[in-house]
Amino acid sequence: MVISAQGNVHNLAVLLSGKPQVQKPITWRQFAQQDTVSFGKALEPRFEIPYSGPVVTKALKTSINAANPEWQGLKDMTSGENMFPTPKAFLSAFHSANRHYLNDFTGELQAKAVIAKAYSDDKTTIKPENVLISAGTYAAASNLFNAVKGDILIPAPSWYMFEPMVASSNKKHTWVAVSKENNYIPTPKTIQAAIQQAKAAGQDPKILALTNPHNPTGGQYTKQQCQEIADVCRKEGLTVISDEIYRNLLYPGTEFHSVRDFYPEGTMLISGPSKEASMPGWRIGWTIFPETNDGEALRDHLNRYQEGLGSMTNSPAQSALMNYFESSDIQEHVQRVTALHAQRMHTVQQGLTKLGLEVPKPDAGYFLYVDFEPLRPQLAKVGVKTSADLQQYLYEKKGIVAIAGSDMGLPKDSLGLRVGTSKLDAKNDASGEATFKRYAEAGFPAEGFVTPKTQPELFAFLDDMTAIVDELKK
Ligand SMILES: Cc1ncc(COP(=O)(O)O)c(C=O)c1O
Repeated sequence: MVISAQGNVHNLAVLLSGKPQVQKPITWRQFAQQDTVSFGKALEPRFEIPYSGPVVTKALKTSINAANPEWQGLKDMTSGENMFPTPKAFLSAFHSANRHYLNDFTGELQAKAVIAKAYSDDKTTIKPENVLISAGTYAAASNLFNAVKGDILIPAPSWYMFEPMVASSNKKHTWVAVSKENNYIPTPKTIQAAIQQAKAAGQDPKILALTNPHNPTGGQYTKQQCQEIADVCRKEGLTVISDEIYRNLLYPGTEFHSVRDFYPEGTMLISGPSKEASMPGWRIGWTIFPETNDGEALRDHLNRYQEGLGSMTNSPAQSALMNYFESSDIQEHVQRVTALHAQRMHTVQQGLTKLGLEVPKPDAGYFLYVDFEPLRPQLAKVGVKTSADLQQYLYEKKGIVAIAGSDMGLPKDSLGLRVGTSKLDAKNDASGEATFKRYAEAGFPAEGFVTPKTQPELFAFLDDMTAIVDELKK
């Protein structure tokens, strides 16, 4: 059974062209390796869903839930969930919500007004009607891909869900190359090269999908990078989807810049509180459209699309938003959670760098991009030649499960992985709460809080990685 935020009939209609049969549970590896799916005689898949990454996550969850012995002791580093507690004031606003009616499939005007105010600044006042509230940022992005014409450019590596979303909207994508030197963020040159490549393949590239701060590196775009991307997109007539879901998890002392600041007429900002406030299950996300005639026309189209889909954020979650941005309790909590992630992430980044791995310094969130390229010769000796091999190797050696570079748009033979640290010392709500409580008691910002005593699983991960690398180097 699949429970959806409504829209089940739509989902089936999108995916299938006649009776689904329940499949036997299989391991994540089998899941990842299968590239065709059989539903039975009457229904056929309309297209292949080209990912193993989300399947890894899904398989992890279902296997763990089923207490599958095969998965005991594994370290789930695939997760995109923030496991520190949801701000109490936000939780109580949700619990005391007394709105349960279905007023508007595009979101309640009052909730839109709250979001519009939070994103308005001296330069731009956002009209509440120019905000669309969706069942999470996932839905905001995939509705956009589904509802407009044109193909999509995606930086590689990038958030691994963009690719399946684009495929399910029956569009094509082209990867935009990035380099270590430019902190894994696309340049005008690489964007233009991707446009040429897409056109040569018969595509009609119209959208550049960005994550800022970047998933998987946690890197923040500089002002100059934003300006340059804005200039080239304006010149080439590309619309930008700027996914800014990690924006409020930007570490202390880092300044946020968005492509939207330089290209407001051509950027659609998507985001939501799932990550910063640890409540991805509430399904709140939003799209902010450009304050232009074109932006409003697109908004009307997307509004109708979402109304037709019948998928929206539940009403209690929307009412909980009313005080979200202005509550100092909530915003302070988010800052503290962020500061704890910052300490943890810098510890892991430094530890892995010391081992000789290439790990860009993160500015936000709880993902690291770990490139094992410097160990390619040693890895080749043990038969590891691709990121999928590497993913399997870490699992077999130490039970570590991370997302393979090839699921994020990198060539098969890349040796990059996305490593999520959020479940270490916080594998469930209770341990996340306990770790955060200790941090809070240590007194914010509690410099030096992160030690093997307070974060044993984080340091055990570093020990495991040290053992793996030492063995490879022998
Ligand atoms: C870049 C990015 N955007 C969106 C999401 C999903 O956000 P939401 O919970 O709002 O659907 C994730 C997390 O999985 C993400 O990493």
